[in-house]
Amino acid sequence: MKIGIIGGGVAGLFAAYHLVRAGQDVTLFESEKCGRGCSWNAAGMLAPINELEFQELPLLRAGMASRNLYGYLEKDLGDIGLKRNGTLEVALVPDDEGYLRRLFEFQVEQGLPVEWIPGHKIQEYDSFLNRNLPCAIWSPADWQVDNRKLVERLIAYLKENGSTIREDEKVILWKVREDEDGKSDRELVELVTDRGTCIVNRLVVAAGLGKFKHNSLPYKIYPVRGEMISLEVPRLPFLEKTVRIKNSALGNAYIVPKAGRILIGSTSEEKGFDASNTVGGMLDILRKCYAAVPGLYELSVRELWAGLRPSTLNRLPVCDREGGSPVYHLNGLYRHGILLSPLLGKAMSELILNGIRLPEIDSFRIG
Ligand code: GLY
Repeated sequence: MKIGIIGGGVAGLFAAYHLVRAGQDVTLFESEKCGRGCSWNAAGMLAPINELEFQELPLLRAGMASRNLYGYLEKDLGDIGLKRNGTLEVALVPDDEGYLRRLFEFQVEQGLPVEWIPGHKIQEYDSFLNRNLPCAIWSPADWQVDNRKLVERLIAYLKENGSTIREDEKVILWKVREDEDGKSDRELVELVTDRGTCIVNRLVVAAGLGKFKHNSLPYKIYPVRGEMISLEVPRLPFLEKTVRIKNSALGNAYIVPKAGRILIGSTSEEKGFDASNTVGGMLDILRKCYAAVPGLYELSVRELWAGLRPSTLNRLPVCDREGGSPVYHLNGLYRHGILLSPLLGKAMSELILNGIRLPEIDSFRIG
């Protein structure tokens, strides 16, 4: 079957990966370069446990299943910088302890493998943490991946396995083909791009915040800006664990030590399509991260950027078929693109090829 995918971010790439593995003929359209939007800008945390909020159980289930899939990807993709090094969720000041304690109890109720760390033991977990932090949750089963390597390896895999990647080609519209009686032919979708046309049997719209002149998406999607700072890794040993920060006054932040760079981020701002870095954004990130890991003070700044996360109104992804049509949607991955894409790509492949909805995506419907 010929399958078109609009959007070469990590969601579209993983849908392509699973469909190609299932022997399908995939053509992927990307209006710029594959993997250079949110997927490139992300921190690559695979932290379904410590990213859990109380209202997010469907995301936890999906996140755990998707993190497990990461364990099998290296066989096909090679080195993707997978690190099974856990995350620490730290409270910044004593006022944050109540929330963290309640979150910890909720995680334990869900049967998650977490450990409560009182302030006096925090430096045993990583000596670079501020000795005054009041408490933390240790989640050894959270991982991380090198998101930039990941997208590069996915693109290489797709090319090596016969799929067509059409970069710098913008899809203008798609039309479900009608037969002579004016009834829609459920097997054909015609795509019109700024370079030509293409006919496919099924279409996956994984376009993130992409807009189309003639087709409106059957759900609302809006941008949430995330600013990020990349730091040089010092020559001497430095922080090894991923540190996530919860503070009731200043909001959340994280520090992710990766091979060759240390990422600190991120804001969650609703500023429309403005992808600037701001003084306020930098200040918000730096003061929280510095308070958790004072040794950051000496590190050199290598790069700053801001990305726009595509979010639905209820903050859950969409992984669904549009009515009974041959058009499917994979979108709204918001803060969870890198974590959830292996599962959602697989779920999309199951939905298209077998009409099966994996239980983990039951809540991820259109409307
Ligand atoms: N998942 C991390 C972020 O969106 O900032």
